[in-house]
Amino acid sequence: MSVSEIYETMDYGAAPESSAEALAWLVDQGSRFGQFINGSFTAPRDDFESRDPANGNILATLSQASAQEVKTAVAAARSAQPKWEKLGGQERAKYLYAIARLLQKHSRLFAVLETLDNGKPIREARDVDVPLAQRHFYYHAGMAQLMESTLHDREALGVCGQIIPWNFPLLMLAWKIAPALAMGNTVVLKPAEYTSLTALLFADICRQAGLPGGVVNIVTGDGTVGEMIVQADVDKIAFTGSTPVGRRIREQTAGSGKELTLELGGKSAFIVFDDADIDSAIEGLVDAIWFNQGQVCCAGSRLLVHEPVADRFYAKLRIRMAKLRVGNPLDKSIDVGALVDPVQVQRVKEMVATNTAGTLFRAGDVPEAGCFYPPTLITGMNPADRLMQEEIFGPVLVSTTFRTPSEAVELANNTRFGLAATIWSENINLALDIAPKLVAGVVWINGTNMMDAAAGFGGMRESGFGREGGWEGLTAYTRPKTIRRPLKEIAPSVSGELRPPPGGIDRTAKLYIGGKQVRPDGGYSGSVQGKSGMLLGHVSLAGRKDVRNAVEAAQGAKTWGKTTGHLRAQILYYIAENLSARRDEFAQRLNAMLGGKTGEKEVDASVYRLFTYAAWADKYDGQIHGVPLRGAALAMKEPVGIIGALCPDEAPLLGLISCMAPAIAMGNRVILAASPTFPLAATDFIQVLETSDVPGGVVNILTGPHPAIAETMARHMDIDAVWSFGGKDLCKVIEFGSAQNLKRTWVNNGMSRDWMKADAEGIEFLQASTEVKNVWIPYGE
Ligand code: NAI
Repeated sequence: MSVSEIYETMDYGAAPESSAEALAWLVDQGSRFGQFINGSFTAPRDDFESRDPANGNILATLSQASAQEVKTAVAAARSAQPKWEKLGGQERAKYLYAIARLLQKHSRLFAVLETLDNGKPIREARDVDVPLAQRHFYYHAGMAQLMESTLHDREALGVCGQIIPWNFPLLMLAWKIAPALAMGNTVVLKPAEYTSLTALLFADICRQAGLPGGVVNIVTGDGTVGEMIVQADVDKIAFTGSTPVGRRIREQTAGSGKELTLELGGKSAFIVFDDADIDSAIEGLVDAIWFNQGQVCCAGSRLLVHEPVADRFYAKLRIRMAKLRVGNPLDKSIDVGALVDPVQVQRVKEMVATNTAGTLFRAGDVPEAGCFYPPTLITGMNPADRLMQEEIFGPVLVSTTFRTPSEAVELANNTRFGLAATIWSENINLALDIAPKLVAGVVWINGTNMMDAAAGFGGMRESGFGREGGWEGLTAYTRPKTIRRPLKEIAPSVSGELRPPPGGIDRTAKLYIGGKQVRPDGGYSGSVQGKSGMLLGHVSLAGRKDVRNAVEAAQGAKTWGKTTGHLRAQILYYIAENLSARRDEFAQRLNAMLGGKTGEKEVDASVYRLFTYAAWADKYDGQIHGVPLRGAALAMKEPVGIIGALCPDEAPLLGLISCMAPAIAMGNRVILAASPTFPLAATDFIQVLETSDVPGGVVNILTGPHPAIAETMARHMDIDAVWSFGGKDLCKVIEFGSAQNLKRTWVNNGMSRDWMKADAEGIEFLQASTEVKNVWIPYGE
């Protein structure tokens, strides 16, 4: 071939990476692995094989952990945990730092082993997976170091069960283990059955780093082992994987008191505006959907193109696709490697076969043997098509066009998921206007799949909840240092005979929905008696339909989230002022219901709390994360949406206000179920709201028994979060029901809270009221 011909074709040959060292490492281990428990490996069994998906070769045989092995691993983690936590931040930092160094030292071995086991191109394993995994350990070594000074009011959760998928085996391990260990937790981690080898190599690294036995335990096997971990005596489950399994884990852990974070699937939009730099948008798209063969939870798998440039864009894209090289993952000049397993190839084939609406284009020569699938583009899709809605998890891109920016937002948000989105436009004003409107935990502008340990990653809606990375990721591995006592359930005062108030008028308080006092749909009411047995009044009993009406009203008040913090603060101050003006009346009401003399104190604390959250309304700032990028990663705090809160009996007025104030200060709309035993302070409070300029639908108040309200709230698809400070029995109902739309839940697990002192914990309420969206904006010409 002449030089001019080479310039013409820009052809290049194969550049295979040697697998010798990785294969030798496997042979050194006997090519058979047991479980890594308490710092050493158990005797291996030949239960299942780990294969190279590029050629079907057996790499090693692995053991399916037995119930007893999982139990032993959890027990090892349990007994190692107190000592590990007590080591202190700096000592833990030293271990994490040592692990990071060892990962760096063995980076080539890790990269090759990952490619052999998973099928991803060596270029990606070497340049993305392994360096990012190292970065997570370095970053969290720093977090361990800083924990005592910056998170002094938080402590470790205990033992964390961690279940990870096969698409980024080492990286997901790092995302899970690094923050857990940094914060003083110990772990039992299960890699996916297809890709356990780098986790087992990591176990060896833990030994080399001298990590105390039991701090990291690794058990291998399929979903049944995952299930055993979910049901074991652990304090938290962190799961990354498919939405159906995430949903099942939510149901299984409901009411158990276990913390849970779920990082699930996605169908992330890749939006190209007509003013985009088309060539770079196409390169971005290559990274968005063909990176890791499209087996990426945040893959830009739904392409939305501005109509004026669509034809040109598709034509250029097809040309680029034809140049993608599909083949031996160990070849450094390969763009697209093998899918993880024949099962996944079959799944992708079956999904693509359902396409009827779109025009299909396949590119690239694909090797006949091995788990290969060609880069595929399907254009002309309808937004409701199955392939536009469901995760394909393969190298298949589906696309449609849009006409206006608002249509782009509508199409992008037309999904059950909410993991990531990409915006491509040279108009930064437009991009920054669109980013906050997208329902996604991560938004990339003029770039894609940018990730770093310093920036949180995680989703909204059915993409799960919780963040991994950044300051925001640490909440998932810590809890407030507060001693909680079991909640004492308060029984309503019942005397044989109702004594009406002397000279009082018996009136029935209504529900407060959409800014109006309304009768309950079912037409039922219940009496409220004071401690002395005196009849204090009647309240409406809210049912399912009333909850739904409240949701509808809250939906109508959507613009509240777009108001300024300044305005929301003014309204909260106004509520405080109006409550304060009626201090004596509220105090008397509380004393009459509770039978004590704490009424004034509770009203004063309520006014104080309103002032506190009014103050926070424009001060609970976002951040700019220090990611290694010429650009900015903005961590923006956004309202969660519609929050349902079951308010406590312990402090009938203060509890209600403690839920309402932070939520509305942050721009949420709330449906408050008043204290079931002492609801009259809440119904009196309706009058305060009515005179305080609160727009209709922002605050809705229901009265009546909590179980029915809790169940409806938990299952309602348009409620984004449910909090419960009521009885223990509600926790399970709420967490179980929430699995339907994977809404966020925050329940008390039957423990009490000192509402008078809650200011110290106010930040917890602000965290629960917000969702962090990370917006990445690279800059420079
Ligand atoms: P999966 O969700 O079944 O597997 C993920 C992990 O969960 C594995 O370690 C698996 O052993 C474990 N697991 C499975 N069933 C479990 C259970 N009942 N309890 C506890 N742990 C359990 O995902 P799978 O079947 O490998 O892939 C199916 C589809 O899921 C893919 O086609 C893709 O659409 C999606 N997926 C999404 C991922 C993401 O990162 N969002 C990662 C992997 C798969």
